[in-house]
Amino acid sequence: MSKPAYYITTPIYYPSNKLHIGHSYTTVAADAMARYKRLRGYDVMFLTGTDEHGQKIERRAAEENVTPQQFVDNIVKGIKELWETMDVTYDKFIRTTDEEHKQTVQKIFKKLYDQGDIYKGAYKGLYCTPCESFFTEVQLKDGKCPDCGRPVEKVKEEAYFFKLSKYQDRLIEYIESHPEFIEPKARQNEMINNFLKPGLEDLCVSRTSFKWGIPVEFDTNHVVYVWLDALSNYISALGYMQENDERFQKFWPADVHLVGKEIVRFHTIIWPAMLMALDLPLPKQVFGHGWLVINGGKMSKSQGTVVDPNVLVERYGSDAIRYFLLREIAFGQDGNFSNEALISRINSDLANDLGNLTSRTVAMIEKYFGTLPTEQEGNEFDADVQNVIKEQIAKMEANMEKLFFNNALEDIWVIIRRMNKYIDETMPWVLAKDEANKAKLAGVLYTLAEAIRIVSIMIEPFMPRTPEKIWAQFGIERGELTAWDSIHNFGTLQKDLTAKKGENMFPRIDKEKELAVLESHAKTVETPAAKEEKKAEKSAKKEEVKEVNEISEITIDDFAKVQLKVGEVIECEKVPKADKLLVSKIKIGDEVRQIVSGIAAYYKPEEFVGKKVVVVTNLKPVKLRGILSQGMVLCASDDNGNLVAVGPLGEMVSGAEVR
Ligand code: ME8
Ligand code: MG
Repeated sequence: MSKPAYYITTPIYYPSNKLHIGHSYTTVAADAMARYKRLRGYDVMFLTGTDEHGQKIERRAAEENVTPQQFVDNIVKGIKELWETMDVTYDKFIRTTDEEHKQTVQKIFKKLYDQGDIYKGAYKGLYCTPCESFFTEVQLKDGKCPDCGRPVEKVKEEAYFFKLSKYQDRLIEYIESHPEFIEPKARQNEMINNFLKPGLEDLCVSRTSFKWGIPVEFDTNHVVYVWLDALSNYISALGYMQENDERFQKFWPADVHLVGKEIVRFHTIIWPAMLMALDLPLPKQVFGHGWLVINGGKMSKSQGTVVDPNVLVERYGSDAIRYFLLREIAFGQDGNFSNEALISRINSDLANDLGNLTSRTVAMIEKYFGTLPTEQEGNEFDADVQNVIKEQIAKMEANMEKLFFNNALEDIWVIIRRMNKYIDETMPWVLAKDEANKAKLAGVLYTLAEAIRIVSIMIEPFMPRTPEKIWAQFGIERGELTAWDSIHNFGTLQKDLTAKKGENMFPRIDKEKELAVLESHAKTVETPAAKEEKKAEKSAKKEEVKEVNEISEITIDDFAKVQLKVGEVIECEKVPKADKLLVSKIKIGDEVRQIVSGIAAYYKPEEFVGKKVVVVTNLKPVKLRGILSQGMVLCASDDNGNLVAVGPLGEMVSGAEVR
């Protein structure tokens, strides 16, 4: 008999230099599920990949002076390495730059066009020619381009549209009659009430303003809209509309698309409408999980709040990180990430609960027997233990079906904690004192070993490395004794088992010390630039507060300590990777100083050049973002966020003193 099929996907990731722990979350969750289903006897197709087209990539490649293809190739390599580090066992890694994918997308586009679901129309919008970007009315800043401040033009660009509106009623009906389609439930209501009921508009699905995309086959000025391109990955990866579509026949419709909550809309409106148009069945479920947040905010590179999974894995091992991600955060809700919570979990759940249970059991078997005698006697706690195990297995299996990973792990830990209690109840060290209790002692140790074997199988989807370490200590080899079904039969482990101490699987972590180490990593490894900016902001805030609190009078001598001079800005540019900073060359008399100012939001570099400003010239030089700043440009600012630089009101030569 052939195995049943199970198809699970993650979103395909935008190539970004640094995937953070938030990205690992979706993929690790999908991996746990894929591993679980494989253990349960399914033929699993686990798909992940990268979403590589679009204007953003085109621009970033240009900034780095490489072709878009070179740019993405380089990043994709890093992403694949990360998945290896996290022990992610995808069955296929799709890239939207793969030839087969491109062909499928072109064929889909053509088919929808031929049948009238895609039509040619005009995209009306406001266009900034220098920036080559479209904007909507609300995106404008004072009626001008929000990027460069120049005037925009009303333009009509030829574009293709997908008849999304046509599918509105069918979508509502489908979602309402398939309550399992969108999980969690709250997201379902959100889609119906906020998006579907108010009405759908046809979707613009082609662009002509940039090139880095899949060309529309029959009109090559156009490239396919990135989301149409990206969503198609779920079927192009299976060979849809390709010569060999065996996988498509076998695995479509998907059992579940795992996606972050912010892209549920694309997966439950646009994607199903596309599938309806293609006359294909819809995925059985779209599960929108929450975000991993730091201090309440979504992890983001620009905020400097990314946590590098590589650092964590290197220090604690991938199993611990995978465990933490899936245990700490209720799947579907946002969850806070903190180093402190991570270390606490490792110490309490892994080192204490699981680690101690295993090491105590192994140590006792080794000490009292080496190999257990087959003559074994039960005790009054056995029935409860076996009952708890049976119940917890059933609960765990049910929670896995619902993708409630944190509950499933908790179910397993109930067993682990019950077994630690069993040691306290049966007190093997007391039994060991009397030769007459030998069979009883052997029975206790057998029950412990068997429970640990069962636990080791149950944790495998989450922590793929730990089971082998446990098995090695009991001389268990992968096979019947490690098969999922065997956990339903308590007593499968042979009676005359042998135990031998192995490595300490989860050494206890000195929390204080470790937090300090992680903190220092955060400074050096993560985004030093962002940290510096934050620090500068903080001290600026402090200064501000000080000012308000202690307006104190100074003498003319105090004031004279500050040397102020007129300077002329002769060069100015943005500080790379610092949104707020400009670095200027300022001529002050015969001297030219380099000064960094936090004014990028208020002045364009080219606009600042030629301005006469007032500079504090005897300020101790500092480095900002590694750039030397020799002084300060005076600026006036109000509480509404306006800022202007201060300069002389009339003609004045640079170098003139201000007093
Ligand atoms: O959206 N916590 O790609 P993406 C949890 N290319 N999940 C997070 C997260 C965080 N802090 N940060 C990101 C895209 N993610 C599209 C998808 S699918 C056809 C195209 C998750 O790289 C995010 O929610 O921006 C999303 O599910 C995934 O990472 C990819 O995000
Ligand atoms: Mg995103």
